[in-house]
Amino acid sequence: MKIVIPGGTGQVGIVLKRALCAAGHDVVVLSRRPRRQDEVHWDGVTPGPWAEEIDGSDVVVNLAGRSVNCRYTPANLREMMDSRVHSTRAVGEAIAAAARPPRVWLQMSTATVYAHRYDAPNDETTGVIGGTEPDAPGYWAYSVDIAKAWEREQETANTPHTRKVALRAAMVMSPDRGGVFDVLLRLARLGLGGPVAGGAQYVSWIHDQDFVRAVEFLIARDDITGPVNLAAPAPLPHRDFMRALRRAWGVPVGLPATRWMAETGAFVLRSDTELLLKSRRVVPGHLLDAGFTFGRPDWPAAADDLVRRLRSTGTR
Ligand SMILES: NC(=O)c1ccc[n+]([C@@H]2O[C@H](COP(=O)([O-])OP(=O)(O)OC[C@H]3O[C@@H](n4cnc5c(N)ncnc54)[C@H](OP(=O)(O)O)[C@@H]3O)[C@@H](O)[C@H]2O)c1
Repeated sequence: MKIVIPGGTGQVGIVLKRALCAAGHDVVVLSRRPRRQDEVHWDGVTPGPWAEEIDGSDVVVNLAGRSVNCRYTPANLREMMDSRVHSTRAVGEAIAAAARPPRVWLQMSTATVYAHRYDAPNDETTGVIGGTEPDAPGYWAYSVDIAKAWEREQETANTPHTRKVALRAAMVMSPDRGGVFDVLLRLARLGLGGPVAGGAQYVSWIHDQDFVRAVEFLIARDDITGPVNLAAPAPLPHRDFMRALRRAWGVPVGLPATRWMAETGAFVLRSDTELLLKSRRVVPGHLLDAGFTFGRPDWPAAADDLVRRLRSTGTR
């Protein structure tokens, strides 16, 4: 198949492209700064020659969006919103204008669309959309607004010949340098991998190979449309998540951190504590119902596998 991946130069794109190329597909990445032969220029906003790549392709997987790992300043928040809405609109318009539109459009979304909660897991049918939780800081609602606007842009695109799926993905854990797993592991190795703010908040995650398999599954299954959660079936409290990570590497202790310490750390790392403190309890209802099986459903075994692969690169 010919598969076009707008925004495929980032952490998730690297994982996906590597696997799809290895499976023999023809993969083209759309980037604002193309560096390789299989990368084509676009600006994520306006129509252009890049649309020719989409016309006649089989699948589009749009991953574009400004990283959320930043300080939530008004300018950054605006860019987080605009980069997602504008790029999704541009992709939708290119598909709508195509003489031979792709069969399926997988559009990245996020598990962050769901409410901050501890009491029950969120699946696609009974899950609670966030934004009005009484026990969450008001500004967290903006991340939910971004996710909703992002999905709405795909929903309203006029692409009658193309099946649309929104990927409500949890954190994708891969052994690649600079990815989420790498960053968390570095903290753990520094002795900073203890519970934060008590550690009761849930962490939703998905192993990179399951992420790829779920994407392949969704490409193949013509009966699945709309939002789909891409998360391992066993989200777990942050304190247990970090304990398993420490065990996987062999770090004996992890200093606990208070909310205040986390605020300071996030400031120093130019990040935001929402990424750490929001309770994301998200489960893959549709995938399981459709018969998808996870290769790495449990975090301790997944963490062991990621550590083994990371060590096998010989760089750490
Ligand atoms: N990583 C995760 O675990 C995770 C989980 C759930 C959802 N997501 C979402 O999945 C997407 C991909 O994640 P990722 O971790 O691969 O992100 P990433 O490493 O930040 O990569 C995203 C890509 O989007 C492009 N981009 C950045 N700013 C843009 C802008 N203003 N306009 C158009 N394109 C822009 C960049 O490509 P160029 O610079 O080459 O143009 C970048 O490589 C993101 O939208 C993210 O929010 C990620």
